[in-house]
Amino acid sequence: MLKKNNDFSSIKHIAIIMDGNGRWAIKRGLSRILGHKKGLHSLVKIINFSINNKLNILTLYAFSTENWSRSELEISELMRLFSLTIKKLMYFLHNRNVCVNIIGNKNRFYFSLKKNIENIQILTKNNSGLKLNIAIDYGGKWDIVNCIKKIIKKNIGFKNINEKLVKKNLCLGNLPSVDLLIRTGGEKRISNFLLWQIAYAEFFFINILWPDFKCINFKNILNNFFLRNRRFGKI
Ligand code: IPE
Ligand code: IPE
Ligand code: MG
Repeated sequence: MLKKNNDFSSIKHIAIIMDGNGRWAIKRGLSRILGHKKGLHSLVKIINFSINNKLNILTLYAFSTENWSRSELEISELMRLFSLTIKKLMYFLHNRNVCVNIIGNKNRFYFSLKKNIENIQILTKNNSGLKLNIAIDYGGKWDIVNCIKKIIKKNIGFKNINEKLVKKNLCLGNLPSVDLLIRTGGEKRISNFLLWQIAYAEFFFINILWPDFKCINFKNILNNFFLRNRRFGKI
């Protein structure tokens, strides 16, 4: 794919597994939650970069189905952080024409978090700039089970089951598939993030912990993406 210098607008969909907050904090003798707070700074920087560089779709993994198995304290602090951050960023994101969508199960969220999610989604739903999806209480397996339930509920006949229909009933079903998936923190796994949606994504596993992840690191990955030879099964 050819591109002009620093023009990333031809990349349709970027996904990031924001990992490494806990280790960042432990290394400094701090509590894990301070790592999550520091991670928010990276989040804001990357969102700003995405807006300024006219990126199309950014999907971020913030909390997995499996993260419910962490300590009660860490979970409650994380939920509080999600709620506060959504509320705090709501008008800033709206003014910058960002359309925000929170994906995931969400049925265990407390009322004010649900309310803040609803508010930001309603406020920004008609915005035409960056599409920002944040996965909280999300699991790729949950997404697939949920999709099957939706299809069965609609009483769709066996003959009409096809890839297009499955895609449509998964989270992000109205968006193009992920082109590039980044995981910070050094682990080389998906950890139940998008499964179907990353079928042909290019993977970038980065050794930098999420709180240390800078715009320049992001920019280097995006530039690197254009060097990949995406064949989609062709020769
Ligand atoms: C990612 O950072 C954020 C969440 C999963 C909520 P971690 O909390 O997993 O940080 P590490 O991997 O333990 O360093
Ligand atoms: C994946 O990170 C989830 C998020 C970054 C939100 P984890 O830290 O939970 O994943 P594992 O446990 O290392 O696989
Ligand atoms: Mg982790």
